[in-house]
Amino acid sequence: MTMHAGIAVPGTRAPSVAATATNPVSELHETVLLEEAVEALAIRPDGCYIDATFGRGGHSRKILSQLGPDGRLLALDRDPLAVSAGVLLDDPRFTLVHTAFDGMGEAAKQVGFDVARVDGVLFDLGLSSPQIDTASRGFSFRFDAPLDMRMDTTRGQTAAAWLAEVDEKTLAEVIKDYGEERFAVSIAKKIVVARTERPITTTGELAALVRSCVRTREPGQDAATRTFQAVRIYINQELGQLALTLPQAFDLLKPGGRLVVISFHSLEDRVVKRFMQAGAKPVEPPKGVPLTAAQLPLPKLKLIGKAIKPGAAEIERNPRARSAIMRVAEKLAA
Ligand SMILES: C[S@@+](CC[C@H](N)C(=O)[O-])C[C@H]1O[C@@H](n2cnc3c(N)ncnc32)[C@H](O)[C@@H]1O
Repeated sequence: MTMHAGIAVPGTRAPSVAATATNPVSELHETVLLEEAVEALAIRPDGCYIDATFGRGGHSRKILSQLGPDGRLLALDRDPLAVSAGVLLDDPRFTLVHTAFDGMGEAAKQVGFDVARVDGVLFDLGLSSPQIDTASRGFSFRFDAPLDMRMDTTRGQTAAAWLAEVDEKTLAEVIKDYGEERFAVSIAKKIVVARTERPITTTGELAALVRSCVRTREPGQDAATRTFQAVRIYINQELGQLALTLPQAFDLLKPGGRLVVISFHSLEDRVVKRFMQAGAKPVEPPKGVPLTAAQLPLPKLKLIGKAIKPGAAEIERNPRARSAIMRVAEKLAA
């Protein structure tokens, strides 16, 4: 494997987060829709592929198993621990780059994947199990830990730092828009009052504040779930990243190349669905310009099948797969 220079790549040591009783560290990630996603890429043995979300490499390994000696795979991840874990994947056909996926175009150029040369791009969005299950990452209210929530721990503002300074109106909007939380206004108010007494620095403190405001909740769902999702989406700019990168992925694909995206919540899936549906519609001719049917611009994408969800057996084996939805599109010749 090549770890690409020029882009901040952490050392090649194993992840250095210490496991303790209060800070469990998990390295296991069960890949969601493994067979379905790789099948949807329709791998050509000598093709060039991009795995935009390496995680622990489940999809990458499967792609490599189907590539011949001339095939190439570029993988990206913004999490330094995912990139450290990637050293185990030692394969000359494989390059792993530490970057947010909006750096895809740049990373592709650096490894010689030119525009319109790539056979397939896969996104398996959201968090890996090691991120969720490692207390010190601060993603989960199951542990009391520092409120970090950054996928890329080498840059950007932690959730604690953001909660210390965000104004009440913005906070309420983030919780409402990204958490679809109907108690957003009272949660934001409570946080802003609480932080005048002492800073909110742990997952436990945030969860307790939220729970004290949320009066009713769907059965089986913790009152803090929606607020944690919202803060995480904001801190990592998840929807903006996706909206910026789908067009880059499209440009990199060659005609006939496949775009495969697995999302884990409706906000993400909406961005993907709109992008694919817009690309699959014929471009409207300018008003008043008389064009024959043959002169009309053609659509840029073809939708491949319907959205796919994991089956009951997968969900039973891996409950985290339950909210997954996969969409596939193929680039059409210009
Ligand atoms: C669900 S996991 C991917 C799991 C992977 N397919 C596997 O089988 O092991 C999602 C991964 O994407 C990464 N990720 C999420 N958003 C990203 C972004 N905008 N740029 C780069 N990596 C991102 C996360 O850090 C995480 O490691």
